[in-house]
Amino acid sequence: MVRKISENIFEVGAIDWDRRLFDELIPLPNGTSYNSYLIKGSEKTLLIDTVDPTKTAFLLANLQQLGISKIDYVIAHHGEQDHSGSLPDVLAAFPMAKVVTNAKCRDELKEHLLLSDEQFMVIEDRQVLSLGDKNLEFLFAPWVHWPETFLTYLKEEQILFTCDLFGSHLASAELLAVNEPEVYRTAKRYYAEIMMPFRTNIKKHLEMLAPYQIKMICPSHGPVYQRPQLILDAYKDWTSDKVKNEVVFPYVSMHGSTAKMADRLIAALLERGVIVQPFNLSRTDIGELAMAMVDAATIVIGSPTVLAGPHPLANYAAFLANALRPKTRFVSIIGSFGWGGRMVDILAGAIPNLKVEIIPPVVIKGVPKTADLAALDALAAVIAQKHKEVV
Ligand code: FEO
Repeated sequence: MVRKISENIFEVGAIDWDRRLFDELIPLPNGTSYNSYLIKGSEKTLLIDTVDPTKTAFLLANLQQLGISKIDYVIAHHGEQDHSGSLPDVLAAFPMAKVVTNAKCRDELKEHLLLSDEQFMVIEDRQVLSLGDKNLEFLFAPWVHWPETFLTYLKEEQILFTCDLFGSHLASAELLAVNEPEVYRTAKRYYAEIMMPFRTNIKKHLEMLAPYQIKMICPSHGPVYQRPQLILDAYKDWTSDKVKNEVVFPYVSMHGSTAKMADRLIAALLERGVIVQPFNLSRTDIGELAMAMVDAATIVIGSPTVLAGPHPLANYAAFLANALRPKTRFVSIIGSFGWGGRMVDILAGAIPNLKVEIIPPVVIKGVPKTADLAALDALAAVIAQKHKEVV
């Protein structure tokens, strides 16, 4: 299916309606798309990114449908296979085409796809490539989310092609982001899962983009932003240091004691005006948990004690928080034990990447008694007070 972006610019990639897991790790409840863009200039024709190798046939069929007999350039913004994996087949179909990319991405593509040096045209930051009546400026934007990533700005039309940046894992019949609440939510989840660890880099890239007039943003996953401010404002907010009066509360309970503690803490936080997002880890979509971490001021992990340590699911929640590096300011831990263990030490030691204050945990023996419930109320009061100081 070819989708027209504007005169002589087409989306020719593929929608992956059925994909439910990315990198064998990230759940995709809404599928995804691998957008590829064809630009016909007065002198040269250029393709921006390719598609996942499982969808190569869709890309080639779309090019055939448009009657494309010659491609001069293929921009490879990013070495990951969901955008570069079809390059060998595209180059086989259009052998005169040069892969336009930076030196880092060239080296990756040589390793992963066994391409050779003569198949590349290596570009520099801010270099401009002319297609005749259309001129493309390359803007290096490393670490979104690999070191080689860059963006392309089509000057005449003021369109920014961003590959992974600003994307969303959303298979949609609509080319444009017309359902803004849906796209915002999926883009936030995508940011949390993929971009959040690189928040500082992305902040700099947003500053770099500030002087550019941008009429449209074309990412390589999800809908195209015909109102770019939607996603630019969202990224400005997510990457800022601002946190919200929210607690993300991943917990797991084996025999009900930690669950009773969880119920009390949730009620105590809500009574004090703190929004809480609980996630029972035995049935949690990790993408939802990641998304909740984007702007919450506090994370509380709840765990029973298993073999003298945290439950493995609680360990995983701590691992996830440490890997995704949210801007969280405070962390605490609650839980129960039968006869002892190092649950708190292990969980607290699992988050060295987080620059947080640890609020004293509430860890009890057996089921919660009156004094334990009071301790949870006190924890909620401390969290509410801390939030007043930073939100
Ligand atoms: Fe969509 Fe990093 O690949």
